[in-house]
Amino acid sequence: MARRAQFTTRLGVIAATVGSAVGLGNVWRFPYEAGVNGGGAFLLVYLLFILAIGIPVITAEFIIGRSARANVYGAFKRLPGSRAWNFIGLNGILAAILILSFYSVVAGWTAEYFLDSLTGFGGASSTAELHSRFGNFTASWKSVVWTLIFLGVNFFILRRGVQKGIERMSNMMMPLLFAILLLFAFNSLTLPSAAQGLEFLFTPDFSQLTPTVWLGAMGQAFFSLSIGLGCLITYSGYFKQQTKLLGTAVTTAGLDTLVAILSGIIIFPAVFSFGESPAAGPKLVFEVLPSIFQGMTLGRLWSPLFFLLLLLASLTSTISMAEIAIAYFSEERKMSRSSATALTIGICGVLGTLCALSFGPLGEFTICGMTIFNLFDFVSSTVLLPLGGIFISLYVGFVLKRSAVDAQLQGVPAAVVGAVLFCLRFVAPICITLIFLSGLGLF
Ligand code: PFF
Repeated sequence: MARRAQFTTRLGVIAATVGSAVGLGNVWRFPYEAGVNGGGAFLLVYLLFILAIGIPVITAEFIIGRSARANVYGAFKRLPGSRAWNFIGLNGILAAILILSFYSVVAGWTAEYFLDSLTGFGGASSTAELHSRFGNFTASWKSVVWTLIFLGVNFFILRRGVQKGIERMSNMMMPLLFAILLLFAFNSLTLPSAAQGLEFLFTPDFSQLTPTVWLGAMGQAFFSLSIGLGCLITYSGYFKQQTKLLGTAVTTAGLDTLVAILSGIIIFPAVFSFGESPAAGPKLVFEVLPSIFQGMTLGRLWSPLFFLLLLLASLTSTISMAEIAIAYFSEERKMSRSSATALTIGICGVLGTLCALSFGPLGEFTICGMTIFNLFDFVSSTVLLPLGGIFISLYVGFVLKRSAVDAQLQGVPAAVVGAVLFCLRFVAPICITLIFLSGLGLF
């Protein structure tokens, strides 16, 4: 078999992994989920998930990926255990395709907003004007066109492969994104109602802790860390033997959480200062942020910069989702990299179009009360990712031999390995199952 590609430098590993984790999930999805689910209470539960489930599951995916050096389906064929574990691979590929489809719609919005901001949003400056502008745009065919253009760009990057495509892009984007988010966060803190915004985000109101908040926070943690679907199994197949898996897991989770919190610090002070509701949902970032940016010194500069960076952050995430399916098609179905990429992007093009149309002509079409867009988001983040998380945890916790785990976590003290395994064997599967069942109203 041909030698598999590898990331070349340590920075490349971190940039690609953090690049996958950091994206719309942090800047767009985290603030609106926190906004809808009570702010501080949501953040608290979210942090608990990152520590007790997120870091152990990232580590588990790394262990599987680097031991097997194969795509998410092939990994379980190569490693010990029954073939039933291959289900994790299929679950992951399905989740990746669903996420890539709806995610590309939002990434397309950021592309339009980047261009629109260059002309000052056609003169719209109040949140009311921006509100109707956003509504008109998302309901129009333009949104479908942007979805397809965005997927097309993914195609060209992905066709170039791991080092030239994925690693090179991530190295350039990630540092820039951090710098600009920090700058915006400082600016937001100077807004008149900053204190109210921070209080909303950082003061938990325990009466808000309903099963839906727990379920939402769990889905968000999985989505934001890119876990449960084998994205990190696929990427860690490209890690070198020297890469420190636990250290990389902690760095990834830490930086990802930092970006989510920074986004909250940017958005909530602004929401309160501009008299908006934090519970505005998916449009929050698109309607509120442009108004703040326009009020800042050098107002015309910030919106384009922000939306451009958000677009680039989305790209480093979408290429990682697509890579899950591409590695599967090329390694298991023996397709060339180009055909595997074309197939993956083609499927997502069709599904992404349906998601985009659910803000316009298909807006009335609902399944279980959800539009196609919301359904894809719900099924993937709230059902498939946690389900994948349970089985990935159980696999590393119970099926892989301790010696195989130790071989991948060399240099990590035995007590720490023991703690990670404890989380994988008991904490993660039990918590995920309970939250899942109670969130779905089953008990
Ligand atoms: N973690 C990404 C974000 O927060 O935007 C989304 C994502 C990327 C989910 C890759 C799943 C995945 F495989």
